[in-house]
Amino acid sequence: MVTQKKVSAPSSSAPAQVDMAAVREAVDWVNGRVNASIHFDPEIYRAEADRVFNRAWLVVGHEDMVRKPGDYITNYMGEVGVIVARDRAGEIGVMVNKCAHRGNQVCLFDRGNVKGFTCSYHGWSYGLDGELTGAPMEQHFYRDELDKPAWGLERARVANFHGLIFATFDQSAPSLEEWLGEDTCWWVENYLLATPLGGLESMPGWHRYHSPGNWKLVSENFIGDNYHVFSATHVAWLSLIQHNLEQGSKHPMLTYPASSTETPMWEVSAGGEGISAPMGLGMVTIDDEGGYARDLAEAKGLGPEAVEWVEYRRQKYAELTKDMGGSPYGFMNGGIFPNFGFMGYFSPMVGRHFQTFHPRGPRGHECWQWTMVERDAPQVIKDLAAQRVFQGQHMAGVIAPDDVENFERMVEAAGPERNWARPLHYGLQLGRENEGPDGIPGIVGPNPSEVDQRRFYKFWLEMMERKQA
Ligand code: FES
Ligand SMILES: [Fe+2]
Repeated sequence: MVTQKKVSAPSSSAPAQVDMAAVREAVDWVNGRVNASIHFDPEIYRAEADRVFNRAWLVVGHEDMVRKPGDYITNYMGEVGVIVARDRAGEIGVMVNKCAHRGNQVCLFDRGNVKGFTCSYHGWSYGLDGELTGAPMEQHFYRDELDKPAWGLERARVANFHGLIFATFDQSAPSLEEWLGEDTCWWVENYLLATPLGGLESMPGWHRYHSPGNWKLVSENFIGDNYHVFSATHVAWLSLIQHNLEQGSKHPMLTYPASSTETPMWEVSAGGEGISAPMGLGMVTIDDEGGYARDLAEAKGLGPEAVEWVEYRRQKYAELTKDMGGSPYGFMNGGIFPNFGFMGYFSPMVGRHFQTFHPRGPRGHECWQWTMVERDAPQVIKDLAAQRVFQGQHMAGVIAPDDVENFERMVEAAGPERNWARPLHYGLQLGRENEGPDGIPGIVGPNPSEVDQRRFYKFWLEMMERKQA
């Protein structure tokens, strides 16, 4: 067969020019100062699209969203639309949602089950693995010279970490395990994804909203801003919880987290050194007998199956952590660089909430979120756990709208270029990062703190500095 003359793959656009001396000056993480220019400057935004989003490992979903061959979801890697699909062989692939012929989107829906993808412009067809399988009247018009292997959808590198699907455009990036680092892997496997307990089950569908604020402001909020929770932003939510508790309300929502147990809370930091990305976990409780007693008491009202499950979880984690400096019980919030945030809500009686913050220009982002519950939990707990997430950080809940209001006002106040120069204060608990219990993966420090925000910007700066490929 005569093959069509090969056209070399298009190279990525020229790297954005950015004044790195100014960026370096803007990110004084050592002294806890960061200038708002890195959140608002369009040139910096352009540069980070290449240096951060084209190189990082990014979360694109969970394998539970594509359970069967032919199942797909769409998502984004930065501003790049992608399709996450399970092929006939059961492999999960991630492909750029852009036709190789004239660049049309080939998949127009959020999710579904298909045999392949057909472009709506001229009808080129692609398999579930992105391979070009056909073009209308191919023999006639292309004289059988269309080099189909060369004209499939662009594919990203994919890694499945205990069900969580990551992808990167950087073929030379470190492995996902190296990118996460040993301590982050431990926390994500054991606590975020509850792997020793049977893993997580996804509630169907994404919730999405466009929102003001640079993606970094939202990511840094999840990775480490526990200060705003109790100090100002979420007092309405906390008052509601307090009210419900005082009323002895059996209403299943809005009674968690209980106002407090006597157990202190900590901030956990992992990764962020060398090639591994930073992860932060906020409001972590360790050896939380008060939290366990609270959960057990609620389980007793839900039946023996619920009690058994709460006891089983406790036992399982006690075994897992028996040689450590303490047994972590729960965490409230967390994030992994660059744009992945999650909520654990302290307790197994609440589900897990996952979010990605996709950049949409320097002043906006799009939040894509989904909810998961522990797969082996009794149904009565699954129902309760999912409802609590929906009423919590979800856009229709009592938490997220208060955050969005802040971001909207930050854009207005810090948007004018004149206001970018004065450094913002990121100095909470500076120099006290290690003042927590030893013997637990990562670094445990006081809560609240801005240690994880400082590590977030340190790593962001390092990625911005890395030599262009
Ligand atoms: S743009 Fe897709 S077939 Fe032409
Ligand atoms: Fe918040």
